[in-house]
Amino acid sequence: MVNGLEDVIAAETVLSDVDGANGRLVVRGVSLDDLGGSRYEDVLALLFGGFFPGYGNLAASLGAARVEVFEYLTRDPALFRLPPIDAMRALVARLPDGDDLGTALRLLAAPAVFTPALLRFSSGKDPILPEASSDHASDILRMCSGKAPRSEQSAALDRYLVTVADHGLNASTFAARVVASTGAGLTSSALAALSALKGPLHGGAPGPVLDMLDAIGQPENALGWLTSALERGERLMGFGHRIYRVRDPRADALKTAVRMLAQSGAIDPARLALAEAVEAAALDLLKHKKPDRPLETNVEFYTALLLEALGFPRAAFTCVFAMGRMGGWMAHAREQALTGRLIRPKSVYVGPVPREAA
Ligand code: COA
Repeated sequence: MVNGLEDVIAAETVLSDVDGANGRLVVRGVSLDDLGGSRYEDVLALLFGGFFPGYGNLAASLGAARVEVFEYLTRDPALFRLPPIDAMRALVARLPDGDDLGTALRLLAAPAVFTPALLRFSSGKDPILPEASSDHASDILRMCSGKAPRSEQSAALDRYLVTVADHGLNASTFAARVVASTGAGLTSSALAALSALKGPLHGGAPGPVLDMLDAIGQPENALGWLTSALERGERLMGFGHRIYRVRDPRADALKTAVRMLAQSGAIDPARLALAEAVEAAALDLLKHKKPDRPLETNVEFYTALLLEALGFPRAAFTCVFAMGRMGGWMAHAREQALTGRLIRPKSVYVGPVPREAA
């Protein structure tokens, strides 16, 4: 039995490779470092090739899907009492299931349209209609604020969506593939993936990263605060990874985006200085605490700063993660359905044995 399936190979994929020893992420033959200036729509085309034939102009069909998905919104007050990720998942569950490109496009559009609408509903505002001709990142920001975003804001969100679009057999992608392997459709796969994503050990970490920064308050408090947290046996959010034994390359991609936002005045320099001081202190402490297990900065640390600067409330960070990772989920689910077998591992029974008949 391998606890947590660590190092167990459970799928063959052409989609992405996470090289944990060298800190490298490759998406369909392209290194993350070379995807820096790409739009999310370009990375989708990379992921969808061969799995969703006939996708044509993805930017246009994704725009049309955003408009279509808006029709599935419902103004149900019970939804607004839920955390945004749970409310968004409930809305995704209203979408029709299927294995085709139309289903995949609706699912890609869903978190992008539902999240801004839910955030506006919960502050008493009306949702804003999607604009089919807009690029995906700009439309998301416009549907949140009601204003056209500045180009550096759209570029930062695009950089984020591209950075998180796919990442090997992470927990949510595995969940999507398990469901796809049963022959259930893409909507069912997406719902399983969303449920896996929300946990704090996976996509739920960046909100708590900001809580940590707020609790620390000033750079000079970092060492003391982090030492106490580790002494209490807590994990430091935004650090450590199952696969990476060196720095997560996505952390650097997002740190660059955060610095660019800071240069344009979108991030308070004091906030960035605090984050950098906390990162340095945490890395130092973790090195001493676990000398045999490298614990480096992961993607979620600078995600937190980036999404905060773009105006997303921390409760909705996991929804924004889902906007990007949906591309990977769709491609993996389709790859599993086309090339894989039913995923059905075994368990070892360690419970009581029945008494033998006398
Ligand atoms: N802070 C403090 N200690 C940590 C740690 C962290 N962020 N991450 C791992 N550790 C420690 C564990 O306590 C464990 O110590 P032990 O052997 O004394 O019990 C050891 O390192 C190995 O941890 P393990 O849980 O086996 O690693 P994993 O591969 O299962 O966990 C994560 C990977 C991401 C779940 C883990 O690093 C973590 O919880 N990080 C914080 C949450 C986070 O940032 N999640 C986003 C991931 S992208």
